[in-house]
Amino acid sequence: MKKLLNTLLSVSILCFSIGSFAEEAKRPSLFDRMGGEKVARQIVADTWANHTSNPIVKNRFEDSDGEYVKQKVYEIFAMATGADVKYSGKAMKATHATMNINEAEFNAVIDDVMAALAKNKVGPQEQNEVLAILWSVRPDVVNSNLTTKTLTTEAKAVK
Ligand code: HEM
Repeated sequence: MKKLLNTLLSVSILCFSIGSFAEEAKRPSLFDRMGGEKVARQIVADTWANHTSNPIVKNRFEDSDGEYVKQKVYEIFAMATGADVKYSGKAMKATHATMNINEAEFNAVIDDVMAALAKNKVGPQEQNEVLAILWSVRPDVVNSNLTTKTLTTEAKAVK
């Protein structure tokens, strides 16, 4: 009897695990949860409008071809959020490395994206997921000489 109960327990645990894998597999991508291509393109357009009117960064984009940058940003945004889209632009590090971008500018760009997400009614869970993706790109964008040193680094420097 005990053996039978153990077997039943194992089988139900197995079914539960397979069930949650299946749930995970069919969970829509972040891209789809935000509303798909139409919403993503609108988010990119609103982000561009925010950048080009944001006093902290607007001068950075004065000489850029807006249509080109919006298309490349759409591609990388779509790809990073799980759409079947291929990014055809330049590498993040190569694009930004020579620009001497500081933390305040990076934060301003993030604020512009977050405002565009809110404007397009992207939910808080999805906003957090986008924020994590953006934050992961920070080392390739911000000049490391212009980043705030961590407490650990400061402490080591004092020794
Ligand atoms: C997570 C943050 C960022 C992402 C994902 C991102 C993404 C991109 C992409 C995909 C491009 C087009 C690359 C290409 O030419 O093929 C681009 C261009 C550009 N980015 Fe960023 N960027 C970020 C942050 C920043 C910041 C903080 C600044 C400065 C304030 C900045 C300034 C620029 C400029 C000026 C261009 C246009 C260069 C040109 O006209 O050729 N970016 N970015």
